[in-house]
Amino acid sequence: MILVVNFGGQYAHLIARRIRDIGVYAEIIPYTEASRSAIEARDPEAIILSGGPSSVYEAGAPGIGDWVLDLGVPVLGICYGFQLIAHMLGGEVRRSRGEYGPTKVRVLERSGLLRGWGEEELVWMSHSDHVAEVPRDFIVTALSENGYVAAFRHRERPIYGVQFHPEVKHTPKGRLLLENFSLGIAKAERNWNPERMMELIEEYLRRELEGCDSVLAAVSGGVDSTVAAVLVSRLAGNRLTSVFVNHGLMRKGEPEEVVTLLRDLGMDPIYVDASHEFLSALRGVRDCEEKRRIIGEKFIEVFSRALRGRRFDCLVQGTLYPDVIESGGEIGADRIKSHHNVAALPGWMEARVIEPLRYLYKDEVRALARHLGLPDWVAERQPFPGPGLGVRVMGEITEEKLRIAREASAIVERVLRERGLHSRVWQAFAAVGDDRWVGVKGDSRVEGYIVTVRVVESEDAMTADWSKLPPEVMEEVSKRITSRIPEVTMVTYAITTKPPSTIEPC
Ligand code: XMP
Repeated sequence: MILVVNFGGQYAHLIARRIRDIGVYAEIIPYTEASRSAIEARDPEAIILSGGPSSVYEAGAPGIGDWVLDLGVPVLGICYGFQLIAHMLGGEVRRSRGEYGPTKVRVLERSGLLRGWGEEELVWMSHSDHVAEVPRDFIVTALSENGYVAAFRHRERPIYGVQFHPEVKHTPKGRLLLENFSLGIAKAERNWNPERMMELIEEYLRRELEGCDSVLAAVSGGVDSTVAAVLVSRLAGNRLTSVFVNHGLMRKGEPEEVVTLLRDLGMDPIYVDASHEFLSALRGVRDCEEKRRIIGEKFIEVFSRALRGRRFDCLVQGTLYPDVIESGGEIGADRIKSHHNVAALPGWMEARVIEPLRYLYKDEVRALARHLGLPDWVAERQPFPGPGLGVRVMGEITEEKLRIAREASAIVERVLRERGLHSRVWQAFAAVGDDRWVGVKGDSRVEGYIVTVRVVESEDAMTADWSKLPPEVMEEVSKRITSRIPEVTMVTYAITTKPPSTIEPC
């Protein structure tokens, strides 16, 4: 295992993910919890000190004791972590003009950490401080085009640092560097795969399920809650009750598919079709936050009713690793929208929360879903907001607009699937509002709906880029939507990144 000590850098998760992509298990620990005993207890094979927004020479700057360099395991500092190593060992870090974005570096030592690198390479920089003087016994192994130290290593000990970010894809040889570090220098074994994930999860579940006589899993149809329920059912058997509430705002075919799947997997879910109840509670409501509030409240109400006051000792949630890390640390993000989650369960339910996916990233959950033999449509399922189509229908939710959003989204997903693009994008859907566009269908004038197609690429939904789909794919989407949904006369494509936009329309 490789431990990433997080100093508040926005890329700390990316470091861990890249290491795991290489096949080595990596965990993140906030610097505030990175005491010597906490690190020794985890027994890492190597340690990476992440980037961060502070300056090492400021009073109260985030830090770690220099014992971390004496544990006998290789250490790699990235950006702030690199400057921290310099600072701890008597080098000097100073404010500079800074370097941002793609930058050329001259590689002075093309072995060890930089094995396989050319004499000149492109890297991604994002720093305003620089290492003005390297500590004693350190060798500069790369220099930036602006003359700054871009990489160094200790003469004898396995201590390395890079000013740039090898974890971002804008550093083309970054993955190779991380491979050199984890496999070549740290000699970590490449064994992070679905079998190991299962071992870790089963160990966790055996521990956590002790004393759980009755376990509850709320399944939404998404890949996380479905995989979580399946994992628990394998160990808890008929102690598990799964509940699926259909709020009438699901994707096309979703309720039937999910219920059938759970049955096929040997679970006997409580299925509640509350679509009429939700839709009538939402009648006349135009404001999106108000919709979210109503859906959230209604959910609890329907859910509680379905359980008829039964008590459960344990509750399964599909929480993923980024949420586990963020909720425990100071590295939280502002919530722009009030996300509704099953977390807000009835007050009388004081169940212990069980999170079988707490060690995994989203793509690992997908790999695990395949390993468990779940069908591709589950494994590949894109993230879907709790309030469902309720946030993809702008303005009042009517049966007609719901049908349009549902059909149009299904078309977008189908076309992308046919072209092999579906699994390459983060989310692909269609939204509809009240704006109209005049069209001609047959020979007559019709005033139809405008459907907006949104296809985004993202690593974590915090930022997103619109997908540059080939024009013929966009054309196919438009043709199918307007021909199969008579009420639609215009299809638009959303071309704004997040930020300044968000992924969902509201
Ligand atoms: P935004 O629209 O804020 O979405 O850029 C970021 C990610 O979160 C999903 N999303 C939600 N998920 N409940 C959820 O569980 C919600 O209310 C909700 N709203 C947005 C969205 O699909 C995207 O992946």
